[in-house]
Amino acid sequence: MPRFRKHLFICNNKRSEDDPRGSCSKKNSDSLIDYAKKRIHELGLKKEIRVNKAGCLDACAYGPAMVVYPDDTWYSPKTKNDIEIILENHIQNNNLAKELVIDFKKK
Ligand code: FES
Repeated sequence: MPRFRKHLFICNNKRSEDDPRGSCSKKNSDSLIDYAKKRIHELGLKKEIRVNKAGCLDACAYGPAMVVYPDDTWYSPKTKNDIEIILENHIQNNNLAKELVIDFKKK
C-alpha cells in the first residue's frame, strides 16, 4: 500500500521581476498551496493526500501549475474556488476537473 494515495505538487517558484518566463509565485501560488493544505486537513484526508510546494514544474506559461501523482494530471488553478473544484472532482471523486486541466498543445 502506498504511503499516500495522491500527491499534489504546486509550483511556487520565484523568479526575478524582469524574467520573461514569469513565475507561479507571482500568480498567487503560495496562497493556493496554503489553501489546499488547509482544505485537505479539514476534509480529513491528511493521512492519504499530500500537498507539497514544488520548484518549477516546467509549465510556467500555464501557472500556477499543479500536478497530481500518481495520475500525472496537470492543472492550472487560479483561485481558491479552482482548488475546491480539483479537490471535489479529482481527489474526492476520482473524476477529472476537466475545465482546469492544462492543455499543453495550446501554448
Ligand atoms: S515557475 Fe511554476 S511551473 Fe515554472
